[in-house]
Amino acid sequence: MNIESLVRTIPDFPKKGISYKDITPLLQDYKVMEYCVKKFAEQIDSPIDKVVGIESRGFFFATLLAKELKAGFVPIRKSGKLPYNTLKEPYDLEYGQDELEIHEDAILKGEKVLIHDDVLATGGTAKAACNLVERLEGEIIQCNFLIELTFLEGKNQLEGKEILSLIKY
Ligand code: PRP
Ligand code: MG
Repeated sequence: MNIESLVRTIPDFPKKGISYKDITPLLQDYKVMEYCVKKFAEQIDSPIDKVVGIESRGFFFATLLAKELKAGFVPIRKSGKLPYNTLKEPYDLEYGQDELEIHEDAILKGEKVLIHDDVLATGGTAKAACNLVERLEGEIIQCNFLIELTFLEGKNQLEGKEILSLIKY
């Protein structure tokens, strides 16, 4: 299946110079989503306790993956969105910084964790997510992404982590 053809590149969105990878065409077909979930799942060979999805575009597949892997789902959200006690981790934006948060009871010590997001770009977001999971003493089994923008070298931020991307640009 050619999933790459179902990712639409929108130039200069949300601002000039950014080439936005729009996965909504891919999400419109449940068979394509099933295919992606299968592709992800077949690359995970140990049991997973929690699938962590990163707000907001990471949520689409993270819950599907959690169900497939018979794991719980945990959201990492942008600052101020989670209602209970949280751990916070700063990450770099194009201009300035923001924070990601996780509930303090979302992952138990030693739990095996899969982190999912739609896109790995500079890696700042994924790195902050990894830090949150590791601060809760979760064991990161893999970080997976639908899309990796290899020219931005986000992998360098995730040294020592197992990384899987279904589509590479
Ligand atoms: C996008 C994308 C990844 C992140 C990757 O999210 O969905 O989460 O950027 O960038 P990085 O590797 O350079 O950190 P965005 O922050 O635009 O928010 P959204 O998912 O809520 O649309
Ligand atoms: Mg995102």
